[in-house]
Amino acid sequence: MPTVCVIGAQWGDEGKGKVLDLLSADADWVVRYHGGSNAGHTVWLGNEKFVLHLVPSGILHPHVRCVIATGVVVDPRHLLEEIDGLESRGVKVAGRLFLSDRAHLVFPYHVELDKLAELRRGENRIGTTARGIGPAYADRASRIGVRVAEMSEPDAFRRHVERNVEEKNALITGLYRAKPLDAGAIVAEYLECAKRLRPFVSDTFAMVGDAKRRGERLFFEGAQGALLDIDFGTYPFVTSSHPITGGVTVGVGIPPRDVERVIGIFKAYTTRVGAGPFPTEDPGDLGKRLRERGGEFGSTTGRPRRCGWFDLVACRYSCELNGFDAGVLTKLDVLAGLSEIPVCVAYGLPNGETTRFPGNVSVLERAVPRYEKLPGFDGDVSGIRNYRDLPVEAKRYVQYLEEHLEIPFSHVSVGPEREQTIVR
Ligand code: GDP
Ligand code: IMO
Ligand code: MG
Repeated sequence: MPTVCVIGAQWGDEGKGKVLDLLSADADWVVRYHGGSNAGHTVWLGNEKFVLHLVPSGILHPHVRCVIATGVVVDPRHLLEEIDGLESRGVKVAGRLFLSDRAHLVFPYHVELDKLAELRRGENRIGTTARGIGPAYADRASRIGVRVAEMSEPDAFRRHVERNVEEKNALITGLYRAKPLDAGAIVAEYLECAKRLRPFVSDTFAMVGDAKRRGERLFFEGAQGALLDIDFGTYPFVTSSHPITGGVTVGVGIPPRDVERVIGIFKAYTTRVGAGPFPTEDPGDLGKRLRERGGEFGSTTGRPRRCGWFDLVACRYSCELNGFDAGVLTKLDVLAGLSEIPVCVAYGLPNGETTRFPGNVSVLERAVPRYEKLPGFDGDVSGIRNYRDLPVEAKRYVQYLEEHLEIPFSHVSVGPEREQTIVR
């Protein structure tokens, strides 16, 4: 299986970082294909915690080469900070990380506009990560975006950035009544970044194609989750890219038929950070318990994550959308100690019950989950490595989800570390 996609099946933070780190022990390449530093992928190596935002989660395996592909929007300041942070902790990045020359850059004006637009939305805010992701993708679609390769031609780069800053400042000062940005300072800072990033910049399209032809093993790393997809997620409470399988082909530049295996990462319950409908959210004590036991605080922003129960309606939709061949179930350990575990099997709507995920958020907001309650399990399962050693109720829960999602779970994760994994 030379090409494998690893995709978040829910609203992000399913544990993709942990799983990618685990699976990429067998990879030659790990390729990030979309999103930007809105992502926060956590990997634990013993007592050491790494949170990766732009650098692919395969970086902790010295033999793996890592690609930030064309579909990613890159804030070069964050990227350099991340590279420096890794190098200072003994992770060699130079010579192993490749940044697409076609990727779009995130600028301070994107970050500023992200924040100002959120403020202006008031109660209707999306709850973005304030990393400038939406405005950067908007510029790409408007064809005024600046790509990585442009940094190698300083004069043209300066003119392009100046034009953009002029336009953005009109909005920043006019509509938002905020302070204008200084184009000269931005250009100077980015050209400094460019000098340092030059050795990383590559034609990653050609590189991935060559690797594929040599039969090397490629893993594609999804960020966010399928339900945050700009078209198929809970629009407008979504991110601005395509976290789904389809995003891989356009984000990397590979034909759909070259995606050989798709693995969905499912958290054993549900979390969401930011605004938007979340039918199985539990705002009460049990939701709070999930947050505390699961350490559910944003890896990028530190915000508390909203917590609730596994949603089969949403996850079956995700399976259909992504074509998962298999799943990985994470954080099963967090559910230990509950007397029963609710799983949402259908939504009640004003015009009847449905097992279809509605396309319209105003409908989804009215959905009342119908739960089936499975027996809970006791004890600490985080030390278990063999599936047969799990409490019988925990196995029943895993198998119940597999049957209803119609995919097998190849791994069950019972803790944040690599070793805390049950291989089925
Ligand atoms: P990602 O964005 O999908 O990579 O997920 P995050 O890293 O944002 O959030 C997942 C959190 O859960 C991180 O703190 C992980 O270290 C942690 N984690 C991953 N798998 C497990 C697991 O099976 N059990 C527990 N208790 N924590 C886990
Ligand atoms: P990883 O890769 C969870 C959410 C934000 C917000 C919405 C839009 O760690 O799973 P954006 O900044 O992208 O414009 O925000 O998307 N969001 C995530 N939620 N995990 C993520 O990434 C996310 N990246 C963005 O909270 O609701
Ligand atoms: Mg995360």
